[in-house]
Amino acid sequence: MVVKIKDNIYWVGSVDWEVREFHGYETLKGSSYNSYLIVDEKNVLIDSAKHYMFEELIEGIKTVIDPKDIDYIVVNHAEKDHSGCIGKLVKLSDAKVITNEKGKEDLNLQFNTEDWEFIIVDTGDEINIGKRTLKFIKTPMLHWPDNMVTYCIEDKILFSNDAFGQHIATSERFDYEVSSDELFDDAKEYFANILLPYKMLIPNAVNAVKGLDIDYICPSHGIIWKEKVEEILNYYMKWSSDNYKNKAVIAYDTMYNSTKKIAHAIGKGLSDEGVEVKIYNISKTPMNTIMREIIDSKYILIGSPTLNSNIYPPVAMFLAYMEGLKPDSNKLAVAFGSYGWMEMATDIIKKSFEKLNFKVIDDECLKCRFVPKEEYIKKCYEFGKKLSKITP
Ligand code: FEO
Repeated sequence: MVVKIKDNIYWVGSVDWEVREFHGYETLKGSSYNSYLIVDEKNVLIDSAKHYMFEELIEGIKTVIDPKDIDYIVVNHAEKDHSGCIGKLVKLSDAKVITNEKGKEDLNLQFNTEDWEFIIVDTGDEINIGKRTLKFIKTPMLHWPDNMVTYCIEDKILFSNDAFGQHIATSERFDYEVSSDELFDDAKEYFANILLPYKMLIPNAVNAVKGLDIDYICPSHGIIWKEKVEEILNYYMKWSSDNYKNKAVIAYDTMYNSTKKIAHAIGKGLSDEGVEVKIYNISKTPMNTIMREIIDSKYILIGSPTLNSNIYPPVAMFLAYMEGLKPDSNKLAVAFGSYGWMEMATDIIKKSFEKLNFKVIDDECLKCRFVPKEEYIKKCYEFGKKLSKITP
C-alpha cells in the first residue's frame, strides 16, 4: 500500500516478508526496499527495489501516477537491492537516471546501460523539479563508494538510502507506529552489520545531516524516522564511537558440551563481578545478532572445540564474518576450547584476534582436554572473575 509522507511525496516501496538472507545477514524479520515518489513538474522516483519486486513497485506507482510519466530516477546507491528494477523502469518511462560518477560506474558494471541517459551530480549540486529542489550529498563508503543521500529542501526530507535503515518487514511505516526499543535494536543490528567497517566516516556524515533542517529521514530499508530523528542521529554517533560498556560477549560452538561448559563458567565469573554477559551458541544464533552485541562490548570471548586438527567450521565462519566487519580494536579477547589429543582451535582464534588488534588475554584454564570436571570449571569461573578486573 502506498503511504503519503507529505503532499505529493509518497512511499511506494516493497515489503519483502520472505527474505531470510542478505549477503550473510540473516534477515529473520524480512526487509523492505523503500522507494519514494515525488510528484511535481518533474516526477521523481528515488531508488527502486530488488528485481523480483518490480510488479509490486509498479502497482504502487500506478496508484499515484502512470509509471510512464516518471521523469527522473535518483540512484542513491547502485547495489541491486535498490537498483534491480531500474532497467525495466527506464525502458518503460525513458526517465533520466540521476546519480554520481561512482554510481554510474557501478551501474554500468552491473547492467546494460547503453540506452540510459544519466545526469551526474556531486555533493552540493541541486536540481529543480518544479516547486521543489533536490540537493545531493555524497556519503562514500557508507557503505559502497557510490553512496549518496538526497535532500528535498522545501519539504525537509532526507532520503538517506542505506544509512539509518533496518532490515525489518512491517506494515507500519513510521517510527511512532512501532516499539522504540525493538526499532533501535534493529537499527543497531543493521549498523553493526552494514556500516561498521567504515564507521570512522559516520560522525562527519551525521554532522552534515545535523546541519540540515529535517522533518523526516526516509531510509531505503525499514521504518521512516519522524519523531525520533534526533535520537537515531545520536545513536549513530554513539555506535560509531569507541566507547564500550562493561559487557562481555561469549560466542562459542561445542561438540560434546565441553566448550559450552567453559563458556558458561567464565560467563558466571564475569557476571558475578557485575559484568553484563551475553552468551551465544554460534550455530544457534544469527551472526548479525552476535555482531550487534559485540560493537559496544569490552570483552569478546570465542570458544571452539578442535576438530580434525582445525577449528569447528561454524566458528571459522563467524571469525571470517567478524574480521570483515572490523569491530573496534579496544577489546579484551579470550580464546578457549576443548580438544581430544591435539589442541589447534584456540591458536586459530587468536590469529583472528590479532588481525583485529584485540588485546589477547590467556590463561591455563582455556584449553581443556576432553571434559572439564568440577575442579576445572572452578578455575574457569575464577578466570572470569579475574578477567572482570582487567581493562583494555
Ligand atoms: Fe541496501 Fe547497500 O544496499
